[in-house]
Amino acid sequence: MTERTRVMSHRFAWVIGVLSAAFVAFGLATVASLSAEPRPAQAPASAQGAGFPSAADIESYRNTVERLFMTDRGGTVPGMAACVMCHTWQTRPMRFSLETPATDAGWSVEQSRRNFDVVTKLVNTASPETSRLLLKPLASQAGGLAHTGGTYWTSRDQPEYQALLKWIRGLPADRYVAAPVPALDFTFFRSCVQPVFANPREGHIRCSNCHAGGLVGFAPPPQNGKSWSDEEAKRAFQSISRLIIPGNPEQSRFMLKPLHPDGGGSYTHNGVRRWQSRDDPEWQMLAGWVRGERTGGTCS
Ligand code: HEC
Ligand code: HEC
Repeated sequence: MTERTRVMSHRFAWVIGVLSAAFVAFGLATVASLSAEPRPAQAPASAQGAGFPSAADIESYRNTVERLFMTDRGGTVPGMAACVMCHTWQTRPMRFSLETPATDAGWSVEQSRRNFDVVTKLVNTASPETSRLLLKPLASQAGGLAHTGGTYWTSRDQPEYQALLKWIRGLPADRYVAAPVPALDFTFFRSCVQPVFANPREGHIRCSNCHAGGLVGFAPPPQNGKSWSDEEAKRAFQSISRLIIPGNPEQSRFMLKPLHPDGGGSYTHNGVRRWQSRDDPEWQMLAGWVRGERTGGTCS
């Protein structure tokens, strides 16, 4: 870590880890002044041009999208924290990890170019309204997806939602099309994934000990003490689905949190590291399920 990133890491540090029976408290260190400095007036996007993204396209992205990521919302909790407080190094190696801003005012143009490649993985130009970038901060009553970072827009009419939608519509229509999403098999989940939660490795404690309820409650112990009912299993399946990017085990939180950082896992997990590397046969088996390749009741 360089001195610069150490300072920034400290700055953006989000202190996680108060876990009582069924409750995870997220505390975020306050970010002093994240509000973006005024930038030159928006340049027209040469969206359909061959040399996309041009300097003007990057400028327009910086003014619309990155400014929104930096917006200080006066809080440090989900739904109120600036997107940038969680979506830089904290989420690495997950998909939506932006560069650590070069200055308090934001990213350098070079950084923005790299961020642009990250952010366009979260959009679907073939059907802009289905972009994850729009659905994650949107309230579920308005059709949004559950988001650890909280709800930012109560409806699709909100100016920020509209501004992002307009930006996505301005991208070349055939360039940033989301890949088809494979389905996660429920039978395989019951037979081969849930046992992982219940059967700790030597010297470890069960996932169920910590993940019994709340936001990360994908592994409540069975009510009858022996095996999960269909109802219980379905709830757990919903819960874990939120932590998975189907087709992409390498960037799914479920596959990263218990994986050792030296083996490509998450920087932080206040729980166990069950897998030392991705070569672990169990990791491979689960990865196959996340890719939609493993179905049915046979685990080996
Ligand atoms: C308190 C921390 C936090 C804040 C603040 C936050 N997020 Fe998140 N976000 C997360 C976490 C953790 C995940 C991964 C788990 C999930 O999807 O809920 C995530 C996931 C996402 C994803 C899905 C990424 C993918 O690879 O599919 C998008 C898109 C997203 N956030 C957008 C935003 C936007 C836009 C903002 C600001 C308006 C924001 N987030 C604010 C924590 C945060
Ligand atoms: C000692 C308690 C503990 C144990 C055991 C534990 N975890 Fe965790 N886990 C946590 C805490 C606390 C968090 C939230 C803070 C963090 O991300 O580190 C968390 C977060 C997670 C997340 C990310 C949740 C989110 O919303 O982004 C996943 C996935 C996860 N754990 C999976 C597992 C799996 C799988 C196991 C069992 C192999 C496990 N954990 C065992 C405490 C634990």
